[in-house]
Amino acid sequence: MVDLSGKVAFITGAGSGIGQGTALRLARDGADVCIAEIDLDAAEETASMVREFGRRAQIVRCNVASQAQVQEAVDSCVAELGGINIAVANAGIGRGGSVLDMELKHWQDQVDINLTGVFLTVQAAAQRMVASGDGGRIVCISSLAALNTSQWMWSYSATKAGVAMMVRGWASELGPHGININAIGPGVIDTPLAHSLAGDEGGPIRTALEAATPVGRSGAPSDIAGLISFLVGPDADFMTGSYLVMDGGIRDARGGGLLEDPDTPLGQERARHMQASEVRNARLQPLIDQR
Ligand SMILES: NC(=O)c1ccc[n+]([C@@H]2O[C@H](COP(=O)([O-])OP(=O)(O)OC[C@H]3O[C@@H](n4cnc5c(N)ncnc54)[C@H](O)[C@@H]3O)[C@@H](O)[C@H]2O)c1
Repeated sequence: MVDLSGKVAFITGAGSGIGQGTALRLARDGADVCIAEIDLDAAEETASMVREFGRRAQIVRCNVASQAQVQEAVDSCVAELGGINIAVANAGIGRGGSVLDMELKHWQDQVDINLTGVFLTVQAAAQRMVASGDGGRIVCISSLAALNTSQWMWSYSATKAGVAMMVRGWASELGPHGININAIGPGVIDTPLAHSLAGDEGGPIRTALEAATPVGRSGAPSDIAGLISFLVGPDADFMTGSYLVMDGGIRDARGGGLLEDPDTPLGQERARHMQASEVRNARLQPLIDQR
């Protein structure tokens, strides 16, 4: 196990899914955690789980699309927890659509959160790490969708490919300051975000995707959290600027293409899940709009 005792981890979107799994894993490894979230109820749940590991948990309301809110979140993490040694730029939304009728706001929200939000998070955290003189570790959550795309996923893919490229560029500048930065490309991970793409556990879409996945299952947030634990620990000292796929092998198994044809039963099932995800998006949208 990695020993992160005495370290502080700043994690965006840590109220749910991969961010929550990462908060719990890094707390188990010994780190105190700052949860930077728009969804304060979700953040509260993560905070109480972090405290069960005997670690300190701080909640800051932070929309990563707002430079002022990201800066305030970083400043208040430093003030309350004493610094930032680890930053995980995880917050993201997944919204697909047709190039013929996607609304500008739909596109812009995704760019503002998935791309600009990662830039703002890394900039504020790295500035603090440079000023401290202690270096640090940063992990950005990209996606397997940075490599693969489709007629429905192109806008999401564009933001995630951007993250992978930004990380490669940033590694050169941050390395001499003792800051390692890497990107992760998760495949299908069982989280609320993934339900719109991959449906429910045991459902027809998930079953088909899992059958096409060499390891035979979807990923869990704890799978990605384990990789993050490695990347922020001493064994990853020589690793920076990388983009690491963790996808159960589905990358070369054509899993994504299964869902593209709207006339197939799977395509129709996904359309039903996309409608269900609209309900969750409608709940998050007012929080996203508060900048
Ligand atoms: N689940 C997957 O299959 C999968 C695959 C590849 C990449 N990812 C990426 O992993 C990251 C986490 O996704 P997840 O699946 O855990 O999703 P999730 O929806 O379960 O969690 C995302 C969290 O981010 C928060 N959030 C959303 N917008 C925010 C904003 N503007 N500012 C701050 N917080 C915000 C949400 O409230 C939520 O708690 C995302 O960047 C996503 O694109 C997920």
